[in-house]
This record gives sequence, structure tokens and C-alpha cells, in this order.
Amino acid sequence: MITVDNVTVGYGTAGFIKAVDQVSLTINDNEILGIAGESGSGKSTLMRAVYGDFSTGLRILSGTVTGRFVDATSGQVIEAQSKNFAPLWWDQLSYIPQGSMSVLNPLMKIEQQVVDGLPARERKGGSHALRQRIAGFFSGFGLEETVLDAYPHQLSGGMRQRVLVAIAAFVNPRLILADEPTTALDVVVQKKILLMMVEIQRRQRNSLVLVSHDLGVHYQITDRLVIMYRGQIVEQGPTAEIFANPQHDYTKNLIASLPRLHGKRAVESMGVLA
Ligand SMILES: Nc1ncnc2c1ncn2[C@@H]1O[C@H](COP(=O)(O)OP(=O)(O)OP(=O)(O)O)[C@@H](O)[C@H]1O
Ligand SMILES: [Mg+2]
Repeated sequence: MITVDNVTVGYGTAGFIKAVDQVSLTINDNEILGIAGESGSGKSTLMRAVYGDFSTGLRILSGTVTGRFVDATSGQVIEAQSKNFAPLWWDQLSYIPQGSMSVLNPLMKIEQQVVDGLPARERKGGSHALRQRIAGFFSGFGLEETVLDAYPHQLSGGMRQRVLVAIAAFVNPRLILADEPTTALDVVVQKKILLMMVEIQRRQRNSLVLVSHDLGVHYQITDRLVIMYRGQIVEQGPTAEIFANPQHDYTKNLIASLPRLHGKRAVESMGVLA
């Protein structure tokens, strides 16, 4: 679906920090791809380059990000570079940015925020019918219809994050990019939201890219895993293989540093998303 070919990304006009350095990966149909790595390793930068969000001054210095999507109505294949992805946002790919609590407009009720984000064709059918559809979809996230009439500050942090995930999934995009979607939340809420995201991915058979510094999360839900270190990908492959047989020193250390419970690694004993 997306091919990242030897991409180097920098910020600013002169000199450039190479935030992502010669990275290649593919995002396949119907998979959960995890991205892990320490703070500053380039995970969010890579997400922005894949989504085609250049608003932060990000520049692709070399290499290409190519998307291949199928138009839902015409069945036509759309091939484009990420600098031209903007018209495909929502329909084909959606993005939950890191620290996205602040993405919700504090002055606008939730219903309006959902509607404003929708492509025009989704708004057809009258506002009552649309509200019913949104309410129905939100209920799958444990969000009651009254949430639609609330302002963001009236919701808990966990609810706001569920709202963001629901908005990102509502129009059934083929790819959802989620950058640390649960990091600020407590473990119980985190678990619920991750379960929801997995369920949506299975139901909609789309692709999910999940950025998390939490290896336990990757162990439990991702199909493949990419490990970044200082802007580069040092390792990628099926998640189970990486855990069973890490190749790179950085990955070995990461896995070795996971807490142990009763002699087993915590991730193996938690069974959180079993
Ligand atoms: N908007 C920006 N302008 C300039 N430099 C930036 C910007 N965003 C990130 N960088 C730099 O790019 C590098 C990679 O940052 P990035 O945010 O992609 O890392 P990350 O892996 O997402 O980290 P974290 O786990 O803390 O979210 C860092 O050196 C960072 O300082
Ligand atoms: Mg980040």
C-alpha cells in the first residue's frame, strides 16, 4: 500500500538535521505494523513523511514515499507520492498525531468536529441521519450519544482519546497512522483503546501503523515491527521473530531491559490482549 524507498528527511532550510536517514519499508494491506525506538529516533518524523504532512517544516531530502490506493467508488487505482497525499486524507489514510489531545478544538462540540473532518460525500443524507451514524459508530467505542454534544474539556482524557480514534476510523480509511495513541493514559484505558484499534483493524481489514515506545504493546498486537535508532531502521521483521531472535545490539538491549515477572518477561505474562 505504501512503499518508503530510501527516504531521508530533514527539518529547516539550511544545514538540516537528518531526522530520518535512508529509511526503507513497506506498509502492506491488512496488517498492523509497529514502530519502536527511543525518543528522538525519528518515529514521528517518519509518520509525518508517510502521511504527507509537511506543515512542521519537514522536507524529504531524498528517496520516495509512494502510495497505491484503490478509489472506493470507481475502483480505480491511485498512485501518488506523499507530497500529493492531502486529497487522499481521511478517505484513504488518516492520522492520529502524537500528543493529539490538543488536536480537538476546545471551543467546538464533538459532533461538529467529526462532521467538519468528513469528506463531502460522507455529509450527504442530512444531519440527523449522519448524527445517527456517528452515534452508532461511537457506541462501538463505549462512547454514548451525549458525548457528541460535549465540549472536549467535559470529557476525560481517555474519552477524548477514544473520540480521536473513532474519528480517525469513521470513514474506514485503508490506512490509519497512530503515533503513540495511548501513551499519556493509564494502563487500563490504554488497554481498552488498543483493543478497540485492533478490533477495528480486523473488522475493516485496513492497515494500522502503531508508533509506541512500549515493546509490550508491540509484542501483543503488531504483526511486523520496525526498530528505529538515531534516524535509521536498525531492524525490521515479523514481531515474533524479532522478540525471539533480536539481531541488533540496540534491540537486544531493549528486549533485555523489559521487566521480568516470576522469571518470565512481563510481556509474556501479561496476556493483556489475549
Ligand atoms: N518540528 C521539528 N523541527 C525541527 N526538528 C524536529 C522537529 N520535530 C522533530 N525534530 C527533530 O527530529 C529528530 C527526530 O524527532 P522525532 O520527533 O521524529 O522523534 P521520535 O522518535 O518521534 O521521538 P519521541 O519518542 O520523543 O516522540 C529529533 O532530533 C528532533 O529534535
Ligand atoms: Mg514522536
